Amino acid sequence: MMTYLKPRAVIVGTGSYLPANIVTNDDLAQKVDTSDEWIKSRTGIRERRILAEAEATSDMCVKAAERALKDADISAAELDLIVVGTVTPDMLFPSTACIVQDKIGAKKATAFDLSAGCTGFIYALATGSSFLEAGLYKNALVIGSDAVSRVVDWSDRGTCVLFGDGAGAVVLQASNSEEGIIGSYLRSDGSGAHFLHLPAGGSRLPATVKTINDALHSLKMEGREVFKFAVKAMEEATRRVLEENGLSLEEVNHLIPHQANIRIIESSLKRLGLAEDKVFVNLHKYGNMSGASVPVALDEAAKQGKFKKGDLLVLVAFGAGLTWGSSAVRWAK
Ligand code: ACO
Repeated sequence: MMTYLKPRAVIVGTGSYLPANIVTNDDLAQKVDTSDEWIKSRTGIRERRILAEAEATSDMCVKAAERALKDADISAAELDLIVVGTVTPDMLFPSTACIVQDKIGAKKATAFDLSAGCTGFIYALATGSSFLEAGLYKNALVIGSDAVSRVVDWSDRGTCVLFGDGAGAVVLQASNSEEGIIGSYLRSDGSGAHFLHLPAGGSRLPATVKTINDALHSLKMEGREVFKFAVKAMEEATRRVLEENGLSLEEVNHLIPHQANIRIIESSLKRLGLAEDKVFVNLHKYGNMSGASVPVALDEAAKQGKFKKGDLLVLVAFGAGLTWGSSAVRWAK
């Protein structure tokens, strides 16, 4: 009997882009009532990157994409699909993915965005790999990028100190390899939407003088609620993606978590019983880059030579929606 082997989506290239402008905790302490000590001890963040006035999310995506394509050694013209996970698109429409498609010259690629807060890249990776596994496409570009600095209230010390801007990308290729995206686990709970949201600028509250005066065009967050949810979500998503794919925690070589707060990562590691040397952390340099956190961490860890061919990676994130999710990946490079 012939057995049909489903193609697997393999990560064949990674790339990232961080804006040049570094803003330290001391810089922020000159704008709002905060201190380097408070930010470091509560979050682990020391500095973050903020995009230039002339830059937008698509510009960061393009730079990350070009680096990922170079790493994968394929041209933009070969791409069949572009998926961008973002909650800070250049504009409400068209999608940032379409803008990126044009800028990189990916003429034949289907392009669209998806919105899953800081879980955006995990959702985009699962979406991109599903198209490849279904046999519909051969090459996909998956990007996570956010310019949260454009939507934070710079007078709210409870949120403005937490975020940074950036973009990370991977190129996926359909292959019969044993390696690649082994499985994904995606969850949503819209009843928690109000814990993390941006009220105005959509169809519910279009921009008016009142929405501007009421400061409704900036991100609102109930930090403690998000914290409690995050710790449980990271543990659940890590365990479930392994269980559902017949893998165990002992087999995990690297955990690449969403980089929101070092205390969330430490609590998750404790709950999972995972050793600290298995987790990659770069949030001290970049803060929470929303959808960019996981792919930037993945690219940095890869470029630092942390992964060996065949290593088992778990990528895991949580965010607005509420959403949470994970991917189990066998490293192929
Ligand atoms: N500097 C100094 N003091 C501050 C600051 C600041 N930047 N921010 C808050 N405070 C004060 C508060 O006013 C409060 O003072 P009070 O006790 O006098 O009222 C005190 O510090 C403690 O505030 P908490 O909010 O209770 O501090 P907590 O220890 O919970 O830390 C934090 C806050 C860092 C936001 C934490 O709750 C957290 O990390 N939550 C998760 C956030 C997160 O991950 N968000 C990203 C989600 S992903 C996405 O989709 C975008």
